[in-house]
Amino acid sequence: MSQIRWTQRLRLEPVGRANAADLWLVPGDDEVWPWYGKDKPTFEQAEQQARFMADSWRLHGVHKWIAYDRGSGEVVGRGGLSRTPVDDDWGQIYAFLPHQPWVRAAHESRRPFVAHAHWLEIGWAVRGAFRGRGYASEIGRAGLAYACDVLGVQAVVSCTARHNVRSRAVMQRIGMRYAGEIRTRGQVERAGAERDDAPFAVCVLLRTERDRVAR
Ligand SMILES: CC(C)(COP(=O)(O)OP(=O)(O)OC[C@H]1O[C@@H](n2cnc3c(N)ncnc32)[C@H](O)[C@@H]1OP(=O)(O)O)[C@@H](O)C(=O)NCCC(=O)NCCS
Repeated sequence: MSQIRWTQRLRLEPVGRANAADLWLVPGDDEVWPWYGKDKPTFEQAEQQARFMADSWRLHGVHKWIAYDRGSGEVVGRGGLSRTPVDDDWGQIYAFLPHQPWVRAAHESRRPFVAHAHWLEIGWAVRGAFRGRGYASEIGRAGLAYACDVLGVQAVVSCTARHNVRSRAVMQRIGMRYAGEIRTRGQVERAGAERDDAPFAVCVLLRTERDRVAR
């Protein structure tokens, strides 16, 4: 089955090596990159990301899409799903999932890293010029549909810095449920530098809850 998805306004294409230049328009956007680090990423870093995403699509069967406007072909943003590493940071999410064996089970491919098999992370980033038009929510809804209806995973989670109100609004808008907070490396509101114990809000959607989500 094709991994390209079409929504009302977007063509969602799995990020591959050939998309590096397009991808760079998103993490290199001045309204996007400050949420991910203290410096604007270089083009070489975007190329590395594109290679990693291509490997993840091949080995883990999923990663982020790049979102193109269906009509104009412009790069709107990137987003969608990815597997999460089996490590202590992501292990904090177990508290928000059912006490069942699938939660800790690892994916069969140990490359590019050991990942959870039955639940995924979802995220989004939209270039500044395309904000406020519902594109992130459109990417998010396509991701939930792909996770539940195509990949058949048990749960999707989303994490963002506590003060990232726009990303939290997307989570709520697409029907995810606030579950609590984890602490991990990232930004703290009004603090200059990143911290190891920054608070991140977590939203969850279990497959069994999917029916109550507007599609
Ligand atoms: C997080 C982020 C993707 C949210 O973008 P966004 O444009 O606010 O979100 P959406 O695309 O869902 O748009 C929602 C807005 O469009 C409006 N809208 C217009 N048409 C709409 C439609 N058809 N459907 C839904 N919303 C629509 C909504 O009313 C809402 O407006 P509001 O901001 O006044 O409340 C964006 O802020 C971003 O890229 N931030 C940097 C990267 C980032 O933080 N990513 C998350 C890291 S975990």
